[in-house]
Amino acid sequence: MDSETIGEGDWQELMRGLEATIPVYDRINRFATLGQVDRWRRLVRERLPSEAGVLKGRVLEVGCGPGSFAEEVIGGELVCLDPSALMLAAAEPRVNSMRASRGDSAVEFVIGKAEDLPFDDDSFDAVCSLFSFRDWYDKRAGLAEVLRVLKPGAKLVIVDPAKMNRLHGFFGWFWMRFWVGSYARIVCGVSDHPWKWLTKTYVHFGTTKEYVRMLEEIGFEGVEAKVIFPGMATIWEGTAPK
Ligand SMILES: C[S@@+](CC[C@H](N)C(=O)[O-])C[C@H]1O[C@@H](n2cnc3c(N)ncnc32)[C@H](O)[C@@H]1O
Repeated sequence: MDSETIGEGDWQELMRGLEATIPVYDRINRFATLGQVDRWRRLVRERLPSEAGVLKGRVLEVGCGPGSFAEEVIGGELVCLDPSALMLAAAEPRVNSMRASRGDSAVEFVIGKAEDLPFDDDSFDAVCSLFSFRDWYDKRAGLAEVLRVLKPGAKLVIVDPAKMNRLHGFFGWFWMRFWVGSYARIVCGVSDHPWKWLTKTYVHFGTTKEYVRMLEEIGFEGVEAKVIFPGMATIWEGTAPK
């Protein structure tokens, strides 16, 4: 595992670990982020094409997990992709019942990976990915696929916990490994709890600047990054060339 790739065996194990977190996902996430995760999700929503808080156009979420972001998206034509059938099965009833209660159209749930998106070229008005980019096994291939499916001038928004430097990385590792790890052990009720994968992918994930460079090299324009909570959340944005 490094900042760009995750080997096949590690990725399969990571996926099993992520699936095991489904029943406790939101609870541990709120604890690990000191309750900030909802605000970070709102910051992503605000960066997507919208009018008065209502999503406009066809938008893809890559790595939707159990639907924690998607259920709060109002309006639009939302497509949610994840490689895990278990994640999609958890997300679908939750997200679509919430959307139906607001009179929004049902979300289309699609099984697939960022690295091989099952969509036509130029078919989305925006793409977002929240706390999933870190788990893509080939980040360059995934970003190239996102660029392919975005319409010219359309935007990508990513949020994930990048490090600023090595010292920062050490504090982040300590926080995840011991503080969040202990809490996860108590919540999951097992010593070998699946949350340890969060520490592993965090440790190997790169810096904010590294992914700015990567986005530019892949061909995104107007790339910007904002550290919204040091070590826990950076938002990257870039647009497909017109
Ligand atoms: C930590 S969850 C994030 C869920 C949700 N987006 C959120 O905001 O909480 C990460 C998700 O990324 C998915 N994932 C892992 N590897 C992926 C890949 N190569 N392509 C797309 N999604 C991937 C996992 O299955 C998992 O559901």
